[in-house]
Amino acid sequence: MTQPANAATMKAAWIDRYGPPEVITVRETAMPVMGPRDVLIRMRASTVTLPDCAFRAADPFIVRFFAGLLRPKAPIPGGAVAGEIAAVGEDVIRFAPGDRVFGTTDPNPSAMAQYVAMPEDAPLAIMPDALDFGEAAGLTYSFLTAMPFLRDEARLQPGQSILINGAAGSIGTVAVQLARHMGAHVTAVCSARNADLVSSLGADAIIDRHTSDFTRASAAYDVIFDVVGKSSYLACKKALKPRGIYLTTTPSFAILWAMIRGKDAQARRGKLATTGLRPLPDKAKDMLVLRDLVAKGKLHGVIDRVMPLEAIAEAHRYVEQETKAGDVIIEMPR
Ligand SMILES: NC(=O)c1ccc[n+]([C@@H]2O[C@H](COP(=O)([O-])OP(=O)(O)OC[C@H]3O[C@@H](n4cnc5c(N)ncnc54)[C@H](OP(=O)(O)O)[C@@H]3O)[C@@H](O)[C@H]2O)c1
Repeated sequence: MTQPANAATMKAAWIDRYGPPEVITVRETAMPVMGPRDVLIRMRASTVTLPDCAFRAADPFIVRFFAGLLRPKAPIPGGAVAGEIAAVGEDVIRFAPGDRVFGTTDPNPSAMAQYVAMPEDAPLAIMPDALDFGEAAGLTYSFLTAMPFLRDEARLQPGQSILINGAAGSIGTVAVQLARHMGAHVTAVCSARNADLVSSLGADAIIDRHTSDFTRASAAYDVIFDVVGKSSYLACKKALKPRGIYLTTTPSFAILWAMIRGKDAQARRGKLATTGLRPLPDKAKDMLVLRDLVAKGKLHGVIDRVMPLEAIAEAHRYVEQETKAGDVIIEMPR
């Protein structure tokens, strides 16, 4: 095994109780322990997401059943990985020291640190040459969410019409590009300030959410992807074509009830999907799909801002305002 230099301790973000952004500190902690089939990654960038904020705050309460009833079981937050292989276990065959890699530790947070250890068969891939570490970190979260929604849940087909609500956010900016790449006609809902950005990603039409109500449309869309979960199946139903589907990222009693009731008389339906809980081998396969799309220039990351690890609490405060366009990237200290 190749050992990284100066490897006794590392800097990491740390959350040992649930609460507001102020509960996050940055501290020196022990390096991760590697097994023979693990790689050790010297992290260059990660990203702060809304789910990270939900886990930090234990809001909704159900988070505690996954993350720890009284306090977080895993004190280092973050799932998005972008960095260089610093060391490999003796049985590792896919990676070598120096490889530039990106991936995710989700659903087990640990990425907001200078070093992360992951099994070599985890959702981890070699980064395309043109990609920088910040973009790579942001894309892992947004692609691994958007792609299963569009491909597996919506089964989006060329020529279909999709509306994306929350098109300027992390997942939305990737969903617009993917839907366009899949040959759909894309209507994006965002604020006027983000209209140029979303158009540049390939949206065919833009609806300013502050001046128009997209739910007033009649039988206009095969798919409504409510990326930010701010609308509802009931509100969107009229805007769906017969056999159309409303997809949301956000759990609510209303969407669960809609799923229990199933299709309506026109075969329209609503569905919540939980992409974060997909099997790791499926996410690992999708990292290769992501690498391929980026290498071919079909997909780009959108970065709102880059902040140092020391500003992690400020980054959480900013992300939970839900006003960012694209990703908030955290750069790791070298
Ligand atoms: N189900 C799952 O497995 C899963 C996995 C990952 C994430 N999620 C969830 O996915 C959601 C979206 O995450 P994200 O990271 O893409 O969000 P994000 O990056 O925080 O989205 C921010 C954008 O949302 C837009 N927005 C804010 N309020 C809105 C509203 N009322 N209506 C429409 N758009 C609004 C804003 O753009 P404009 O002002 O331009 O509209 C803002 O730029 C989160 O709730 C997260 O928890 C679910």
